[in-house]
Amino acid sequence: MAKSKKTAFFCSECGHESAKWTGQCSACKAWNTMVEAPAEPVKIAGHAGRSIAIGAGSNAEPMRLDEIDLDEEDRTSTGYGELDRVLGSGIVKGSLVLVGGDPGIGKSTILLQVCRNLAGNEKKVLYVSGEESLKQIKIRANRIGEVRGPLAFLSETNLGTIAEVLRKTRPDIVVIDSIQTMFMDEVTSAPGSVSQVRECTNVLMQIAKGEGITVFIVGHVTKEGVVAGPRVLEHMVDTVLYFEGDRYASYRILRSVKNRFGSTNEIGVFEMREDGLREVENPSEFMLEGRPEDASGSAAACLMEGTRPLMLEVQALTTRTSFGMPRRVAAGADYNRVNVLMAVLEKRCHLEMSSYDAYINIAGGMKMNEPALDLAIVLALVSSYKDIPISEKTVVFGEVGLAGEVRSVSMAEQRVKEAIRLGFTTCILPRSNMTRMDLPDGIGLVGVRNVREAIDLLKRV
Ligand code: TYD
Ligand code: MG
Repeated sequence: MAKSKKTAFFCSECGHESAKWTGQCSACKAWNTMVEAPAEPVKIAGHAGRSIAIGAGSNAEPMRLDEIDLDEEDRTSTGYGELDRVLGSGIVKGSLVLVGGDPGIGKSTILLQVCRNLAGNEKKVLYVSGEESLKQIKIRANRIGEVRGPLAFLSETNLGTIAEVLRKTRPDIVVIDSIQTMFMDEVTSAPGSVSQVRECTNVLMQIAKGEGITVFIVGHVTKEGVVAGPRVLEHMVDTVLYFEGDRYASYRILRSVKNRFGSTNEIGVFEMREDGLREVENPSEFMLEGRPEDASGSAAACLMEGTRPLMLEVQALTTRTSFGMPRRVAAGADYNRVNVLMAVLEKRCHLEMSSYDAYINIAGGMKMNEPALDLAIVLALVSSYKDIPISEKTVVFGEVGLAGEVRSVSMAEQRVKEAIRLGFTTCILPRSNMTRMDLPDGIGLVGVRNVREAIDLLKRV
């Protein structure tokens, strides 16, 4: 009797490995996600047992830090300042970058635009699509404008063939769109399964590190867990970028969640236009566009995204509850945080929040979790509750504690500077922040110690 092949079970959400099948993944607690796959990495002809030389010139000898050369040239600009910042000032040679996001968010579009920019810069670029035919790519390319320079396309899903092409043509940059469509003959499971995705990424990693080719991998995120989510890949690649944003809103946010070459706090903002994605260099102005005038329940807040301040509008609507249980909805803000803030208002300011429904919305569909948003949520809620509008020239930030105190936040000076730049005339901020900063001209700063003081300002600002 033939000896049966050794298999194991992998969670298609997080890649957790288990010897037995279980209904629930013991690592990420997802249900019905365990799938069977070969347990050992597949031996691939020409790869088996080969060590990966990570970075040119490395060998089995240990080296001292001062013996290692750093080449400034190793970073290349993508032609988009917004993307370069998220990557940590440009593309690093030989790195593996995963771009994830919901279908239709614009992953293929941004990468095609990056390819166009790089090819215009005399870089040799290869765009491999497993999802679209060459004709479809051409249609998209026509939308984004003229493509010049050494940019080649390949419509292929067999990674063995792609690897051969890469070794032969040796491009500087290659895009794999998407990893879920790629397969290797040596792996028996279907494309998109955990083992296919894992093995394909492994081969791409060897090519990236061994040959110094920068590889961009597109990964789809699915909630059903049918296709292996890029979670499995996150451990293997150098940089993970996520494209977020409402599919129906025009702007897109590129966020890095892992980066071996830079900070993970930075975001890049893009806008989807008829002719592709366009960078938004002044996202604050973009986010505040179309604010209602003289309406209660609207407050401008200044948050930090990495090193950059970002203005947003927080909207609140409170209405009397018609059933026993008040309804609370938070779009873009943390639902539990909104409940906590309402409880603080009820207890510390004696506002009757428990008999009011409350709806909070961050205008523009942004998702924000920074504590500095607290005070803006509180003031928007009270403004709607008392029906007193807050002046559109007033900006608010500060963290609210359970005792109703307003606590200091980081980088207050940058936030105030951004408010001045955008023409705000009043800024409500934590008193403790004010004592520690140089008072700027051009804006009236009002420091508050607790939510009661902030609410008392409502009639005046
Ligand atoms: P796409 O890059 O194909 O998404 P993904 O690769 O992440 O699945 O983006 C497709 C969406 O973007 C589609 O809904 C059409 C829209 N789009 C524009 O609005 N303008 C454009 O110039 C392009 C190329 C796409
Ligand atoms: Mg696509």
